[in-house]
Amino acid sequence: MREAMFHAEVGDDVYGEDPTVNRLERLAAARLSKEAAVFVSSGTMGNLVAILAHAGRGDEVIVGDKSHTLVNEVGGAAGLGGVQLRPIRNDRRGLLDPGELKAAIRGEDLHYPRTALVCLENTHNRCNGAALSVEDMHPTTATAHDRGIPVHIDGARIFNAAVALGVAPSELVREADSVQFCLSKGLSAPIGSLIVGTGEFISRARKYRKMVGGGMRQVGVIAAAGLMALEEMVARLAEDHENAKQLALGLASIPGVTVDPAVVETNIIFFGTRDLPLAEFVARLKQQGVLVGPGRMVTHYGITASDITTVVEMVRALLASPQPAAPR
Ligand SMILES: Cc1ncc(COP(=O)(O)O)c(C=O)c1O
Repeated sequence: MREAMFHAEVGDDVYGEDPTVNRLERLAAARLSKEAAVFVSSGTMGNLVAILAHAGRGDEVIVGDKSHTLVNEVGGAAGLGGVQLRPIRNDRRGLLDPGELKAAIRGEDLHYPRTALVCLENTHNRCNGAALSVEDMHPTTATAHDRGIPVHIDGARIFNAAVALGVAPSELVREADSVQFCLSKGLSAPIGSLIVGTGEFISRARKYRKMVGGGMRQVGVIAAAGLMALEEMVARLAEDHENAKQLALGLASIPGVTVDPAVVETNIIFFGTRDLPLAEFVARLKQQGVLVGPGRMVTHYGITASDITTVVEMVRALLASPQPAAPR
């Protein structure tokens, strides 16, 4: 990717003149069978720009209560767009109940905001990285569409979902009006996300991208890595999923770790520790060169099956004698 970045042909992307970005946007739209795409710096910016392009000030957007957009995107929709996020319950796999969704959609009333958008997330990060099929999502999309409300998918890891389910990514998003996906994370590019949708929607999104400072100039240097991510890094996501499964199974065999391998569908594992506080567990693994989150582990490019065995044995040894860490 560094090599591709070095050799990238560039131009001014604000004027649509960067050939590498243009190729990336065309490829992204084609992979998801949508009319057009726009390149943004991150998943957070992608979701924000999509929300701004769907909803205006005082509008309401329905999201899952465990969604990344609600929990981890700094309230950007409200802070920058004057858009109210209305959470409804995510089930164990990150789905929304159609009955609850129907009840949350606003009717015509002087006192109510307009329901402008419904958001789904796939894979669902906080719901164990669950990979949602188009059939899983259909009751939500149909309920929203019946009321004339568009659906946006936060597909930061949509390619993980497609690989896990063995379907084309375009199939997974065929009922969605817009999708954001990340070239970083499992696809291994250093930076970048794309928003896809209709040509008209993407033109509006492009304007909001400029508004939030996301219009970049010779950004082909980054898009070149993104092209490699899309062309070469998708199929190997299956390795990450297999490694995550093996890691979960290994951790489940260790007394003192709580984890349910059965719920691991992609590359995200949620776990707990019984006898050692999570912060201490994270710090002790970090001392040994293993980076994990407090309660969450993620597998990605560069982590091999033999690394998984090593980490499982490291955790086993650590929890067999959980003394406090040496001062750092
Ligand atoms: C589901 C989901 N959406 C959006 C994002 C935001 O992506 P970024 O970190 O590129 O802003 C993340 C990041 O982890 C995510 O998990």
